[in-house]
Amino acid sequence: MPQVIGVPKEVFPGEKRVATVPEVVEKLRKLGFGVLVESGAGDAANCADETYVAAGAEIAPDAKTLWSKADIVFKVRAPSPEEVSLIREGTALVSFIWPAQNPQLMEALAARKATVLAIDALPRMLSRAQKMDALTSMAGISGYRAVIEAANAFGRFFSGQITAAGKVPPAKVFVAGAGVAGLAAIGTAASLGAIVRANDTRAEVADQVKSLGGEFVKVDYEEEGSGGGGYAKVMSEGFQKAQRDMYAKQASEVDIIITTALIPGKPAPKLITADMVRSMRAGSVIVDMAGEQGGNCELTVPGEAVVRHGVTIIGYTDLPSRLAKQSSTLYATNLFRLAEELCKTKDGLINVNMEDDALRGLTVIKDGTVTWPAPPPKLPAAAVQAPKPAMPPPAPKGHGSGSEPMAAGPLAILFAVAAVLFGLIGAYAPAAFLGHFTVFVLACFVGYMVVWNVTPALHTPLMSVTNAISSIIIIGALVQIAPPFVAAVAGEGARPDEIIRWLAVAGIALTAVNMFGGFAVTQRMLSMFQK
Ligand code: NAI
Repeated sequence: MPQVIGVPKEVFPGEKRVATVPEVVEKLRKLGFGVLVESGAGDAANCADETYVAAGAEIAPDAKTLWSKADIVFKVRAPSPEEVSLIREGTALVSFIWPAQNPQLMEALAARKATVLAIDALPRMLSRAQKMDALTSMAGISGYRAVIEAANAFGRFFSGQITAAGKVPPAKVFVAGAGVAGLAAIGTAASLGAIVRANDTRAEVADQVKSLGGEFVKVDYEEEGSGGGGYAKVMSEGFQKAQRDMYAKQASEVDIIITTALIPGKPAPKLITADMVRSMRAGSVIVDMAGEQGGNCELTVPGEAVVRHGVTIIGYTDLPSRLAKQSSTLYATNLFRLAEELCKTKDGLINVNMEDDALRGLTVIKDGTVTWPAPPPKLPAAAVQAPKPAMPPPAPKGHGSGSEPMAAGPLAILFAVAAVLFGLIGAYAPAAFLGHFTVFVLACFVGYMVVWNVTPALHTPLMSVTNAISSIIIIGALVQIAPPFVAAVAGEGARPDEIIRWLAVAGIALTAVNMFGGFAVTQRMLSMFQK
């Protein structure tokens, strides 16, 4: 008998998300599950009951019916005490739980003899788990929404504009913390045309910041900020002082600050002080995404937007819910990917395999026994990062291929052999061959110097431009087609015969396509690498 996945209406005040959407219901049905949705569960995310029914789900009139019929319950927010009391023995619950912060909830769930998979406990460093990573999908949406909230509260354009009525400077945005949410905020603000700067204690994110159109602002203090697994660590007092100075300077210059700094399991680092807020221009905006962990700004009121010293400080803790349709769709897809892992046999029956690293990490209660925290997953050797040396050795210059430069001894021998070879060729080869050979050797040398110094990422446009340059053969066709050239080359009175002339015309046409097309394609490719 296939199991039934139940999706109740979220009861947390203001929560608009729903744990599955009609598009995903069809996929869950293909895995063999029955799907039961509480009436009105998707209303706030624009998913009406009829759309679920059309996708093959059944509708439960109320929460009580749903919890009593469902074998597996998909939820967004951790269950309320009333919901916990509705859980049947043996039910599997999949939802955000935050076991470290909610010990009482864990006890209550264990007492119901349920199996609980906390989507927030997913081991994120397993690449296989990324498709189920709801924390990442929700943080990405939140970073985007944080910029939209900032734009809503900000009284000016993001992009600079020159209008008949005057010049508008672009807005300056500073993003503190360039993790998942921070990078999404950087990309969104840059795409709206703002000047974006960002800082993170993990220096390795600098390239990602740049690739999204932001400028990475360094703290003037040498200290490695990575705590492993893509997370940060608490920094030394010296670093924090230098960081405060840099943030104070940024606060006085920028119009919008978005803070996303987080160290897992620790209260949010206080990065924006009351003095920094005071130094900002009136009308500026701060979006503090870390409100739930106490906030990155001293003046944040979690869950609210307040105005302090003329600056709007937004501390909303429900950013994903403010984009309910989008976040429900991504969350539903994350849970569907999890359902695939739980039901590899596609017979509508789940198997919580505790030997599987990803499922083991997620399972915080198994049949009433608390199994949290899970032991660290066994990572493949390549995934475990070797500790970085304090000062990396200087990279070999030049060759983008990463090859080692040749040692001086073998290089000298190579040159000596080449010199002898050239001497012999020079002494015995015919004069005509020698001319061509010299051009060939020089061409190889120039080609080597040009190609090997190009970064591998630019090899595709390089091939395209060399393709265009190879159209130099057009000169041959031109010589054949134009009588004066022919006369100059072959002597007075010489004319190309008709067949050669028409072949030359075709040659010019084809080469022109190659030449102009090649340059146009190169230009387009190069513009993809530019900001
Ligand atoms: P993440 O762990 O991917 O990123 C946090 C970043 O902050 C890391 O890159 C870390 O290196 C950096 N960081 C830590 N300490 C720092 C410091 N002192 N200075 C500068 N950077 C520092 O976390 P994610 O997923 O991007 O989430 C960011 C924040 O957004 C969290 O506080 C999370 O709870 C919150 N969040 C808020 C939502 C809302 O509705 N308000 C929704 C989703 C997430």
